Amino acid sequence: MTVAFTRTPHPSPTPPERRAEILAEPGFGRYFTDHMVTIRWTAEKGWHDAELKPYGPLTFDPAAMVLHYGQEIFEGLKAYRQPDGSIACFRPDANAARFRRSAARLAMAELPDELFLESIRQLLDVDRDWVPAAGGEDSLYLRPFMLATEVGLGVRPSAEYLYVLIASPAGPYFAGGVKPVDVWLSTDYTRAALGGTGTAKCGGNYAASLLPQSQGAEHGCAQVAYLDAEERTWVEEMGSNNLFFVFGSGDQAELVTPTLSGSILPGITRDALLVLAKEIGCEVTERRISGQEWFDGARDGRITEVFGCGTAAVITPIGRVKSHDDDVVIGGGEPGPVTLRLRELLTSIQRGEAPDTHSWMYTM
Ligand code: PLP
Ligand code: COI
Repeated sequence: MTVAFTRTPHPSPTPPERRAEILAEPGFGRYFTDHMVTIRWTAEKGWHDAELKPYGPLTFDPAAMVLHYGQEIFEGLKAYRQPDGSIACFRPDANAARFRRSAARLAMAELPDELFLESIRQLLDVDRDWVPAAGGEDSLYLRPFMLATEVGLGVRPSAEYLYVLIASPAGPYFAGGVKPVDVWLSTDYTRAALGGTGTAKCGGNYAASLLPQSQGAEHGCAQVAYLDAEERTWVEEMGSNNLFFVFGSGDQAELVTPTLSGSILPGITRDALLVLAKEIGCEVTERRISGQEWFDGARDGRITEVFGCGTAAVITPIGRVKSHDDDVVIGGGEPGPVTLRLRELLTSIQRGEAPDTHSWMYTM
């Protein structure tokens, strides 16, 4: 299926000096590039009206279904400046596939992968200068999302959707870069239950995480880790990244990550790390790990490192885990060698400084 894009360039794009100021200290999600893509879907016409146009407000009816019942999904991926000046995205095909799976779970129209990829090509074509310089930690964060725009208050799948792609230059998600963060292991709240929407990337999952996130912040924690909803025993993931545990060290280091239980978001970074860890000689196991094992293992030194991983968070070391009942420093509160090695390996592939032996990088 081919959908032609109409192009309306921005009449007064950000002056280069202002853009340079923003790129010098982009933060996360604070600034947006000059353009965006929108594509519409209706039951009658399918995907149509693909537009590349100036970044700006969206208008829709107050009775648009998304505003009432939260039928919304999103993705997050990054474009990296390569040493030769070109721009490449990390595994956008995997984001396209997950976007379709999220759409299916939320009973929304599925955007064909090729259209997802083409929307990125279109936006990067006009906003290339917004991709930060090669060699550093910064990148251009791409945020594709889709919402239900049909007007009506009946609870049923919308018959109209709007797909939107925006982009935002991004530094580290957690201020402090690779400085370890403290994590709150929530025993009051869960993120997702079997049969629910945990494996989909829908806005509602994140709305539900805000209260636990504030509770974690009250205890000085930057992120919340969740247990499974059924037994309240097994560690699942954090509010915006997956978890890895390092047992032992040196040649004996073993990596453990929770098995995709049916309520965990299948992270693309997680998937890549399962591959890379094996390549650097680490044994890697997907299995259940309890909250108790996390506290006890960190206390008695069997667990030497813990980190979170995700597109925004990259690989963020966890220096301490707390709950209402316990509080343990992990690996002396410093980032560990396995964490740092994997981080360096992953980010060098993304920056185009290490060979891309898995064809993960898409030049756009
Ligand atoms: N888990 C949650 C809840 C997330 O929001 C994210 C971020 O996208 C991840 C895990 C990591 O996924 P990925 O590595 O695909 O960014
Ligand atoms: C991402 O890593 O893309 C995420 O989804 C995190 C985001 C919710 C800030």
